[in-house]
Amino acid sequence: MSETVFRNRGHADIPHAFVLGVAGSPRKGGNSDVLVRQILKGVADCGVRSRGVQLRDYQYQGCIGCEKCRKTGVCKGLKDGMTLIYPDFLAAQGLVLVSPTHTYNITAWMKAFIDRLYCFYDFNDHRPRGWSSRLAGQGRKAVLAAICEQPDAADMGFTLEALRYPLEALGYQIIAELPVFGVFDRAKVKTQEAVMQQARQMGRALAQALSA
Ligand SMILES: Cc1cc2nc3c(=O)[nH]c(=O)nc-3n(C[C@H](O)[C@H](O)[C@H](O)COP(=O)(O)O)c2cc1C
Repeated sequence: MSETVFRNRGHADIPHAFVLGVAGSPRKGGNSDVLVRQILKGVADCGVRSRGVQLRDYQYQGCIGCEKCRKTGVCKGLKDGMTLIYPDFLAAQGLVLVSPTHTYNITAWMKAFIDRLYCFYDFNDHRPRGWSSRLAGQGRKAVLAAICEQPDAADMGFTLEALRYPLEALGYQIIAELPVFGVFDRAKVKTQEAVMQQARQMGRALAQALSA
């Protein structure tokens, strides 16, 4: 991978109508995998290219706060599986994030992934430091989905907020959100026709927003 692409600075790095789908469940073939696939089908309906990744397939750590990215603009402190994801993340104007609820929140895999996006912020020298995102103003857009076992919104806890706040801070416009309740068994969400339709529609809405 060339550092030019990775640095996200300059004209060559402007993202294009390509969508990266990221699933944060450790459960292979689980509900999050099904939802990401379904959302990306909706993206494909509109002729937009996409790629799906399951975070459990990558060996990576959470951010260690080394601050090396302050100088370089890229994550230099850790060389791990995120190195394989950053290029597509930067190239994709559209992002799909799906996480199951784990103890009222996103999974540890999704949290570590989001923390590793810290390298895309610029900070000033005051305390507390003023900040801005180098990904802002690029027309980046996202859709979010969360799925949990229990039937009440309270049981999903902060899952959607934990996806939304950091993406908005990075400069993404959130096009749609899908909370799914009452699903425990692996891939059982497939049997919920209304949810599957909503997921596909969400993918179409993202693709249309990118093409507008
Ligand atoms: C460690 C762990 C914590 C969980 N915590 C919650 C929770 O706080 N609330 C809830 O409703 N479901 C919770 N669940 C259930 C999952 O959210 C649910 O089974 C979901 O459908 C899993 O999606 P997946 O197949 O994509 O992993 C938890 C599951 C696990 C394994």
